[in-house]
Amino acid sequence: MKKPVIAIDGFSSTGKSSISKIIAQKLDLVHLDTGALYRGVTWFALQNCVSENGTVDLEDLFKNFHHIHLEFKNVDNELVLFLNEINIGKEIRSNEVSDNVSNVAKQAEVRDFLLGYQRKLAEKGGIIMDGRDIGTVVLPNADFKFFLTASIEERTKRRYNELLGLGIPAEEQSVKENLIERDRIDSEREVAPLKQAEDAIVIDNTEMTKKETIEKILNCVKNF
Ligand code: DC
Repeated sequence: MKKPVIAIDGFSSTGKSSISKIIAQKLDLVHLDTGALYRGVTWFALQNCVSENGTVDLEDLFKNFHHIHLEFKNVDNELVLFLNEINIGKEIRSNEVSDNVSNVAKQAEVRDFLLGYQRKLAEKGGIIMDGRDIGTVVLPNADFKFFLTASIEERTKRRYNELLGLGIPAEEQSVKENLIERDRIDSEREVAPLKQAEDAIVIDNTEMTKKETIEKILNCVKNF
């Protein structure tokens, strides 16, 4: 039986990844969190391509793409990102990566570097992919497209709690500022900006639980 290809885009901390993960389990699909790939490249850059003033040296990064081998591996039934065979699942959630990732992700070279890998993973179908440009650029022919949004206050609360849960020190005001800044850079960038596909179903889940959002999506895809 053919399985669907589902694209989930939207703002940071709207629950895209955790919701996609549960839908993948329910429908027996592969789940790919594409934000992790951009975070993985950023982590590599912060370790290896930093200029004297402490910022990412983009030219150096572009020259070193051939040293970046990203792969998702199954660890305790979860797909975890490995960089050159090293588990970086926790490192990519650090504040340092969050502060730098949008600037790395807006580079056309970086997006090109990751595009082929993402499309290849979707070739066989049976996948739910979440990100910012999945419905518009990566998988424009996806069977279903959703665009998630929620108020900045609600998203701040969710991200703050997520960080605390991961044992990463956080402060609510700076979490909020980081989200606003990332949304701005992601939405305004020239290449593959964050925007809803014309044929996407928009879900504002400010007032919805995770379970309700999942039910709404499952309801939309049930007739595939
Ligand atoms: O979903 P996230 O917060 O882990 O994403 C990290 C960053 O990567 C975010 O600033 C936007 C960027 N990103 C992107 O540009 N395109 C994607 N498909 C996924 C993420």
